[in-house]
Amino acid sequence: MCRQGSSIASVFVAKNPSAAESDPAKRVAELRDLVRYHRDRYYNDEPELPDADFDALFSELEALEAEHPELADDTSPTAEVGAPTSATFAPVEHAMPMMSLDNSFDEDELSGWAERMARGLELGDDVDIASAEIGYVCELKIDGLALSLRYENGQLVQGATRGNGRVGDDITANIRTIVGIPHEIDGPPVLEVRGEVYMPVATFEKLNEAQEAAGLPRYANPRNTAAGSLRQKDPTITASRGLAFWAYQLGQVEGGPELTGHGAALDWLGELGFPVNPERRVVETFSEVLDYTRHWHEHRHDLGYEIDGAVIKVDSLATQRSLGSTSRAPRWAMAYKLPPEEKTTTLLDIHVSIGRTGKATPFAVLEPVVVAGSTVQMATLHNADQVALKDVRPGDTVTVRKAGDVIPEVLRPVLSERPEGLPEWVFPTNCPACAELLVRPEDEAHTFCVNPTCPARQQTQIEYFASRGAMDIDGMGESRVALFIEQDLIADVGDLFSIDWDRVAQLEGFGQTSIDNLQSAIAAATQRPLASLLVGLGIRHLGPSGAESLASAFGHLDPIMEASAEEMAAIDGVGPVIAASVKSYFESPKARELVEKFRAGGVNLEGPERSEMPQVLEGLSIVVTGSLEGFSRDGAADAIKGRGGKNPGSVSKKTTAVVVGSDPGASKVTKAEDLGIPMLDEAGFLSLLETGVVPGAADD
Ligand code: IVH
Repeated sequence: MCRQGSSIASVFVAKNPSAAESDPAKRVAELRDLVRYHRDRYYNDEPELPDADFDALFSELEALEAEHPELADDTSPTAEVGAPTSATFAPVEHAMPMMSLDNSFDEDELSGWAERMARGLELGDDVDIASAEIGYVCELKIDGLALSLRYENGQLVQGATRGNGRVGDDITANIRTIVGIPHEIDGPPVLEVRGEVYMPVATFEKLNEAQEAAGLPRYANPRNTAAGSLRQKDPTITASRGLAFWAYQLGQVEGGPELTGHGAALDWLGELGFPVNPERRVVETFSEVLDYTRHWHEHRHDLGYEIDGAVIKVDSLATQRSLGSTSRAPRWAMAYKLPPEEKTTTLLDIHVSIGRTGKATPFAVLEPVVVAGSTVQMATLHNADQVALKDVRPGDTVTVRKAGDVIPEVLRPVLSERPEGLPEWVFPTNCPACAELLVRPEDEAHTFCVNPTCPARQQTQIEYFASRGAMDIDGMGESRVALFIEQDLIADVGDLFSIDWDRVAQLEGFGQTSIDNLQSAIAAATQRPLASLLVGLGIRHLGPSGAESLASAFGHLDPIMEASAEEMAAIDGVGPVIAASVKSYFESPKARELVEKFRAGGVNLEGPERSEMPQVLEGLSIVVTGSLEGFSRDGAADAIKGRGGKNPGSVSKKTTAVVVGSDPGASKVTKAEDLGIPMLDEAGFLSLLETGVVPGAADD
């Protein structure tokens, strides 16, 4: 689909505010077209623009319309909610309209809303909004898809999308497949429950790995993927997508308990068996509202699902009624949007990097752009198929996504912005570093440089070997590795232990102090545990825990090199995939050559002595969240594992205790509370390490 030269292309470019000043009627017309166009793309699960850019267009239109009441028009998108319904599903008229929310983008805008409300409630002009006890419910703004569920006499009879707010799509068959949505409740004669369908991040990532492996396009984000999964004609596809649901609002209710507050309504929904988000808070004052929004600014990625902000609602249902709604949104609620994780910028060029396994990964060189608080100037394009499928071209405006710790990614071009005649980008046939032909093995989504002496491969391999997670050679970073390779001082990781220091001394920028420092960093690395050396070799599939298992089971590198795959696979924590990979690695003469270089360089090849520590935590599972004074994250994990315990990353029914440091992950704490799992402070943790007994649980 190419809209090059379309009328949309010309209007989108008119972002220039002076256009609005000189001819507001023209700009309003342009903006209405644009908002309609991008809203349709969004509702067809093919958005070109990030939500925030769309919101900016929408806000600009709203502001211009407010400034120029003479341009009012009932058909403007600002007077409508949502998108038209589809032809695939039967239309459903909502018993009560499904409203949208007004957005605020900073604390001033949010407090402006609270002040407007205070005026509406005639609380007086001099009310201090920060401390006025209005009573709010703070909720997460789940980044998913609004859904209305209808129950009659306790039976789920209908599930519908929001559609245009009055009429949605009947997707009952699909929503019946969502785990967590009850089919039957002990509820009143009529109950409509509104909420958000979403795709958990882990589910989304798994789905994308499968897409990539199959040479299919990656999905852009969990929200669009959830939307697409819900609009399937075949409910078994929806069922396979692992969607989930949070209930956040009542619709039509006939019968049921007398409720006076929204917080109580949510509690009631929870009692009826609906999943209600545990991070909701009922608070009295606006300053507590700000505590909530500030907290989630910092912790949005501690959740297993995506949020795009918070929703603040007035708790009292009587107050809600007296405030009422506009045609689009209630006056008693306000969305507080977090910084967007998708932005547009210009794709300057596409380069290909060569990893330590030789994998050739295309990546985007971008006009720097701040995404969710950090500047992004490079983003992955994954592999040749993905570039071709997305058809991104240098010179395009592209949407870039950066969510949490995930590597930034180019999602798609904004076709409405593509300059005319922009040539397609073609994946190189030769390695950009060594010029050898690149190879794409059959059934592989990736292309590789198979030249073992390729300087780019060696560069990344040596950097990896010297990195913190492996041999931790301080001072051996990217530029020094590049320099040493270029000067023929090293060609592989084995050479690090026989560097000709007299030659280094002749290099520019190497004084005696830096040589001394680097020499002692390398000397220190010779004493690292065998597991670190194994990790540093970069053997496919072998991570730190597999390396530790091998090191402690065999006690030396030599027997590992000679071991059969079966022997290795029999070790707890190794398994057949790792075993086969390690076996095949050490079959290569190059690997053996490296080991001889290590031996000659005095590198430790011995595994750890069997742990002398009393195994007091055997069979126990201890989760740590937040920072501890006396332990780093890894240090706490080592302390637990060294005593025979397990240290998983999340809380479950199997968790024995949760150690809570400062600034803990809220979801872990809430889950521990919900499951009644004991929580320990640092002193409690120390006592647990010493005795193996959870403090407080010792008496029974
Ligand atoms: S309340 C009348 N609460 O945000 C109030 N909406 O931008 C209706 N959303 O259409 C919405 N989390 O799809 C509400 N905790 C939450 C929400 C939430 C996500 C979505 C919902 C709504 C959209 C508006």
